[in-house]
Amino acid sequence: MIEILVGSQMGAAEYTAEQVADALAQAGFAVRLQLTPDIEQLTKDSTWLVITSTYGAGDLPDNIQPFADQLAQDQTDLTTVCFAVITLGDSSYDTFCLAGEKIATLLLAKGAQNLGVELKIDAQNQELPEDLALAWLPKLLPLLHR
Ligand SMILES: Cc1cc2nc3c(=O)[nH]c(=O)nc-3n(C[C@H](O)[C@H](O)[C@H](O)COP(=O)(O)O)c2cc1C
Repeated sequence: MIEILVGSQMGAAEYTAEQVADALAQAGFAVRLQLTPDIEQLTKDSTWLVITSTYGAGDLPDNIQPFADQLAQDQTDLTTVCFAVITLGDSSYDTFCLAGEKIATLLLAKGAQNLGVELKIDAQNQELPEDLALAWLPKLLPLLHR
């Protein structure tokens, strides 16, 4: 099972997540898209793929901030969780893609294992975020369990 945890303010990360979910499903994986991630609802013996944009001054989008708060406060043990992060941002900010780094730090503190592949998508790049994510997916696929 792959849980895709979405953080999106204006929709780019959400659309990217939908495309990635489709590609993973076509590759034969069971996928769940979580648009308002809630730690109680997520399967813990699974891979969590966080796909989030960055707002404010390196902040998380409103829909995923409560999940980050849960991670910071909750005592849940996440040692059975593997994760990877795709972050959308804009390199004109000195807080470039900080939201993804914040989530990764919180997950690591709960014992989750970083799969060691990450993607930062720069809005300055002319290519579409979903195309960059789909091009990156082959790095993740060999690390996933069906
Ligand atoms: C008001 C505002 C603040 C932003 N702040 C940051 C930031 O601090 N760091 C960053 O890397 N990108 C920042 N961005 C860029 C967004 O993360 C980027 O445009 C992203 O593609 C938006 O994805 P979304 O449509 O899923 O929300 C900001 C964009 C806006 C409009």
